[in-house]
Amino acid sequence: MGYSTLLLIHSWLRWAFLFAALYAIIRSLNGKINNKPFGKEENTAAKILIALTHTMLLLGLILWFISPNVQQALSQGASVFMKDSVKRALVIEHPLTNIIAVVLIQLGRIKSKKAYEDSSKHMRSLVYYGLGLLLILSRIPWGTSPMLRGME
Ligand code: HEM
Repeated sequence: MGYSTLLLIHSWLRWAFLFAALYAIIRSLNGKINNKPFGKEENTAAKILIALTHTMLLLGLILWFISPNVQQALSQGASVFMKDSVKRALVIEHPLTNIIAVVLIQLGRIKSKKAYEDSSKHMRSLVYYGLGLLLILSRIPWGTSPMLRGME
């Protein structure tokens, strides 16, 4: 599978990821506010979110190593690409911030599973997934990449 295919999948899966994160967060918010049990639906939502998060991480890591855009920026050297906000975002900010976000989301799942009370399960999901989602939203290249790659 080549660069363009992987980029296409990474680009489109962003929507599935964003919906899954939002859904898991809304379910936990609802569960917390209305004192509902952390049930089968919440577990399924978390499992889907984790699967998508890992897939995005894997695709992103591969893309970083094979992307001609990243390689071109790297070949210019840090002193050059760090001064270009688009290239800096591509090479450093997007990958690094999103790796931190992936760790937070994974941590949220583990901590939520370990919590004894349902209300803590909701709260931990809410906080960790929420922080992870905010970080990811802040580093998606909204202005410089297509919303629907391949349809432009
Ligand atoms: C859930 C987390 C992530 C989301 C939602 C996300 C989303 C995106 C989006 C929307 C693009 C633009 C795609 C396009 O141009 O059509 C992109 C590009 C890219 N992402 Fe991510 N990403 C995530 C995680 C990561 C991670 C963890 C890495 C690296 C470790 C990474 C590496 C890259 C690279 C290298 C590109 C640019 C490829 C290129 O333009 O040649 N991403 N990402």
